[in-house]
Amino acid sequence: MNELNAIVDDAKASFAQATTPADLENIKARFLGKSGRMTELMKGMAALSVEEKKTRGAAINLAKQAIEGALNNRRQALADAELQVQLQAEALDVTLPGRQRGQGGLHPVSLTLERIEAIFGSMGFEVAQGPEIETDWFNFTALNTPEDHPARSMHDTFYVEGGSATAPNLLRTHTSPMQIRHAVQHVKHHRALLGGEQAKGELFSGDMPEIRVIAPGRTYRVDSDATHSPMFHQCEGLWVGENVSFKDLKFVFTDFCRTFFERDDLVLRFRPSFFPFTEPSAEIDIQFQSGPLAGRWLEVAGSGQVHPNVIRNMGLEPEKYIGFAFGMGPDRLTMLRYGVNDLRLFFDGDVRFLSQFQ
Ligand code: DAH
Repeated sequence: MNELNAIVDDAKASFAQATTPADLENIKARFLGKSGRMTELMKGMAALSVEEKKTRGAAINLAKQAIEGALNNRRQALADAELQVQLQAEALDVTLPGRQRGQGGLHPVSLTLERIEAIFGSMGFEVAQGPEIETDWFNFTALNTPEDHPARSMHDTFYVEGGSATAPNLLRTHTSPMQIRHAVQHVKHHRALLGGEQAKGELFSGDMPEIRVIAPGRTYRVDSDATHSPMFHQCEGLWVGENVSFKDLKFVFTDFCRTFFERDDLVLRFRPSFFPFTEPSAEIDIQFQSGPLAGRWLEVAGSGQVHPNVIRNMGLEPEKYIGFAFGMGPDRLTMLRYGVNDLRLFFDGDVRFLSQFQ
């Protein structure tokens, strides 16, 4: 009997040492396998008498049951431990907030362009779009810009393939070519509505609705520092009719600036200047009466009465048609409105900067 107890104790101790299920099954074989110790004991009973077999058999069976019980306990314990390890490894923190889809928004300059379009739209201005690759004619010649104008030099302007050797195509240096493009279309359309023959090159002096348009978009110059970028934005404005004066320019632009900046006390100054395509010409400065920029004159646009040569290049008779134009910088307007001091921030694409405008 002591022998059986010793085997049971040995089995329990051996099972306890198993660290994996595979280990345990190997150890089990030593006790319960085909040539395991318990099996050997059973075989050894063959020589016993019937009486002895009864008592001996019962004792062996008890021992066997004890070993099987210990085996099952150990199996369960190892399976539990394995499950614990797996649960730990695959742990999910269900209390963590879910990952959300990032919310995009419009770029601050786009917000400004939308604002410009809405304000001029409310004053009856159409919005026109035009090509960023321009011909020499639309960018310079049609705008009365002389051959020796600095903007025509190779190092001030990005020239591209196309056009002619003496007049290569270029990335537009301003949105002013849209004055010509839009006006020509407008005149052509209304001329066609009137019918009748019109000699080629003849200037239109019939009746037509006024041209009232803004043309926002990208423009390019070889320029790069805190306040200049090789790509920047402009918004052109043009109002041509039979009776449009400098007074109208002053009214429209003042109204625009006060609405844009939401300041009724904003003061504007029209400072005499020169542009080839306007005569007279003026730079428009604004002055805030309060806030961090109060008292300083800040330039926001160039403007003027459209030059008669430009009116002609639109296909219009300058004796009948007259108007004004202006060109402003939406990038600069955005900087002033939000207090941004470096233009390059707009084009770096840094989300920490951009997300502040949402
Ligand atoms: N195109 C000019 C520039 O880029 C700005 C400008 C000045 C536009 C006067 C105008 C204008 O329409 O009348 O510097």
